[in-house]
Amino acid sequence: MKIAPSLLSCDFSKMGEEIVRMDNAGADWMHLDVMDGHFVPNITFGAPVIKTVRKYTDKPFDVHLMISDPLKYADDFADAGADIITFHVECDSDIDKTINKIRSRGVKPGLVIKPNTPASAVFPYLDKIDLVLVMTVEPGFGGQSFMADMLPKVKEIKDECNRRGIEMLIEADGGIGEATIEQAANAGIDVCVAGTAVFKAENAKEAIAKLQSY
Ligand code: DX5
Ligand code: ZN
Repeated sequence: MKIAPSLLSCDFSKMGEEIVRMDNAGADWMHLDVMDGHFVPNITFGAPVIKTVRKYTDKPFDVHLMISDPLKYADDFADAGADIITFHVECDSDIDKTINKIRSRGVKPGLVIKPNTPASAVFPYLDKIDLVLVMTVEPGFGGQSFMADMLPKVKEIKDECNRRGIEMLIEADGGIGEATIEQAANAGIDVCVAGTAVFKAENAKEAIAKLQSY
């Protein structure tokens, strides 16, 4: 299992150092949660902040946009150094245009589904994206409880991709830690985001290695 620590749980006053700490602890990707206070009831950071911390690691930057109009800002996040940009299928932007914009900038596009959104919402776009991110909590905050009832969506997406001969990465985000990762692994998830479980661990390296072993 690949592990992407969510910087949402880091000390924002030293984000660069926190990225170095996660890099040294063996993180596969860095997960950056962008919230606009409109799509979700919380505000975090935007492209300028991501740009300033980009130099602290060579690991892929997995930018999760919880914003209403990702099309408007896609260029900014590409310029900031995102390797993957995921945005919500529930957003207000034109989905096809947003995928094309991200792709045109040499960045991998992915779609995210909230807990109340069915897996089928991403089916029309599966041949145009590299990744589907299944939320296992309501987006907006770290430290919430894992929703195991989201896991059947993973099988639905994988079955549809297999049926159509599409290669797809499946990522899960929210409430993942030692107690829940086995279920996520059994469901066939490729990449798990982990905020609290990694940043609040006494030893981040051990915590990441444990999660990666599934
Ligand atoms: C929630 C974010 C997640 C979150 C994960 O809106 O997308 O990335 O920070 O944090 P934990 O692992 O603490 O649930
Ligand atoms: Zn996230």
